[in-house]
Amino acid sequence: MSDITDPIIVMKQEVGRAAANRVKSDSIVGLGTGSTTAYAIEYLGDRLSQGEIKNIVGIPTSFQAEVLAKKYNIPLTTLDAVDHIDVAIDGADEVDPQKNLIKGGGAAHTREKVVDSLATEFIVVVDSGKLTDKLGSTFLLPVEVIPMAITPAMNALKKLGGEPSLRMGIKKAGPVVTDQGNLVVDVKFDEITNPEELEKTINNIPGVLENGLFVGVTDIVLVGEIKDGQPTVREM
Ligand code: A5P
Repeated sequence: MSDITDPIIVMKQEVGRAAANRVKSDSIVGLGTGSTTAYAIEYLGDRLSQGEIKNIVGIPTSFQAEVLAKKYNIPLTTLDAVDHIDVAIDGADEVDPQKNLIKGGGAAHTREKVVDSLATEFIVVVDSGKLTDKLGSTFLLPVEVIPMAITPAMNALKKLGGEPSLRMGIKKAGPVVTDQGNLVVDVKFDEITNPEELEKTINNIPGVLENGLFVGVTDIVLVGEIKDGQPTVREM
């Protein structure tokens, strides 16, 4: 059971609720991945079941999001069946002052980038610990790579000045395997001075499917904070 007195959990809950409250009836909603978005999905399901909003369909960004949407009775669809996404709600591992992100802590950044980039409004939900002046200061950059290209791709990431390491599973022997059946390399860069250029350069390495830099995609960042002992949500 989660500890509801843990301030980080409380911030995640509040920010998830605030994002779910912004969803209007008759919307196609991108459903992000991670522990913060999980609360947004839960509250969205609550609003639907209470009749506060109606006619919502979700597009999940991962197996996790799909399972949660089913649990909370949010109808799902696919990108083949819709011509737009009204709003996407997703978490992040780091957010810089320009609202650029590092994502992929849950190895879901490839599908997340597809869905989040298509949304008319992309809302990022984070606790205040995710805010940083420079991307890459606290979090390694996740890169999804097809398995046969793992060695040359890691060598190419080293040539770019990164220190790549293959992400290993927890409670599972061997590497993390993504929802697409690929591997994830976490790369340490001393500093990411030009995220826009690095995003493109990494994606140009043969065998790389997608990296976790989200540049110029975010519309709104909702930040959960504890102020004077009380959880609050502010828009960045
Ligand atoms: C999933 O791959 C990630 O991009 C998550 O959205 C990100 O790691 C944020 O997750 P938490 O809300 O669990 O911190």
